[in-house]
Amino acid sequence: MNPKPLPPHSAAKIQLLRAYLEAYLAVVSRDTYTDRVLLADLFCGPGMYAEHKPGSPVEIGRMLAALHKGHASAPPTEFLFNDLAAANVANVETFLRPLEAAHRKIKLIPSNKDSANLIPELLSEQENNALGSKRFYFVDPFGYPDSAKSRIQHRRPGDDSCGRGPVSSSGTLTSRPFPACPS
Ligand SMILES: C[S@@+](CC[C@H](N)C(=O)[O-])C[C@H]1O[C@@H](n2cnc3c(N)ncnc32)[C@H](O)[C@@H]1O
Repeated sequence: MNPKPLPPHSAAKIQLLRAYLEAYLAVVSRDTYTDRVLLADLFCGPGMYAEHKPGSPVEIGRMLAALHKGHASAPPTEFLFNDLAAANVANVETFLRPLEAAHRKIKLIPSNKDSANLIPELLSEQENNALGSKRFYFVDPFGYPDSAKSRIQHRRPGDDSCGRGPVSSSGTLTSRPFPACPS
């Protein structure tokens, strides 16, 4: 099947993801107390678009490879990529396995689950997490508005937990239903 073109809004989102992860990985790979990092792309998509433009999971995989190439002391990183479409997960795997093979501190976790089931699993793991273990979730259900809405709680400084409108790609995962906004 021919890859689809990368839509402009997705290109913009991937740029933001890159900028955020660059800063995030720089911090967690140099502090003295992070001993493990889990990155999870919960709606990973096909991995690659037309004209060899990478989707979010391939971008994340490349950033991890660059991190481990540049910082021998960076902590081990696990990368979970998930999609309801098995073909997407398989496609992403073909792009990422060579990176895993080249870097012993990268571990891939392919997953083919409904995010509605995966998110509670991740959250319950997180509750038992050791302090030195860090997690970053990328949540991009664009085009599938019902699939994650009830599991994402937006947080802004000084503004507790409410949101309206489409689910965005940044937020805090929650096992509780999305709270209603005061009118
Ligand atoms: C907007 S695309 C993700 C694009 C991707 N982040 C990228 O940069 O290429 C949304 C993806 O969510 C997947 N999806 C839809 N409903 C889902 C669900 N309930 N659980 C997991 N994945 C789902 C779709 O198969 C689709 O690939």
